[in-house]
Amino acid sequence: MFLLQLVYCTTCLSSFLLQRLPPLSTESNRCERAFVGNTIGQANGVYDKPLDLRFCDYTNEKSNLKGKSLTAALMSDAKFDGADMSEVVMSKAYAVGASFKGVNFSNAVIDRVNFEKANLQGAVFKNTILSGSTFGDAQLEDAVFEDTIIGYIDLQKLCVNTTISQEGRSELGCR
Ligand SMILES: *[C@@H]1O[C@H](CO)[C@@H](O)[C@H](O)[C@H]1NC(C)=O
Ligand SMILES: *[C@@H]1O[C@H](CO)[C@@H](O)[C@H](O)[C@H]1NC(C)=O
Repeated sequence: MFLLQLVYCTTCLSSFLLQRLPPLSTESNRCERAFVGNTIGQANGVYDKPLDLRFCDYTNEKSNLKGKSLTAALMSDAKFDGADMSEVVMSKAYAVGASFKGVNFSNAVIDRVNFEKANLQGAVFKNTILSGSTFGDAQLEDAVFEDTIIGYIDLQKLCVNTTISQEGRSELGCR
């Protein structure tokens, strides 16, 4: 009985999440749109059409994503391992379950990004502005937080995370 309820709730939760997201874009070049970025509109995440990068693979894109505006991007289950995402502006992005292993986020602006269940092992947040983002169940082993610019409330939330290394904790200023 208990198990049945659990299965039921897992299903309703995932269908709830699926309902919130628009259907996958059918544009054939939707993954390539990341290299152009979201150039129109404000950094406010208000676009009539989000960048749909779900399930795309940018593994080892050494420079093509640098400095791009990935605002209002849907990035769930995409792979960015080893990509250069320095100086990107990611505002209101949805990156649940995405993989960012070893990504260079130096000098980036990361605002209101949902990194739930994301893999951020070894990601570099050097001099990165981190605000209003969530990291529930994210993997943050060996992530580098050097001169990361983060507000007090966000810091308290991030410090709760046990996957952050001792070095990362002291860089962040966790107590
Ligand atoms: C990360 O990006 C910054 C800014 O573009 C650059 O100066 C730095 O060399 C990069 N680090 C690595 C390890 O590639
Ligand atoms: C930190 O990680 C744990 C375990 O993966 C997770 O349950 C928790 O939600 C995370 N907390 C925050 C605030 O990121």
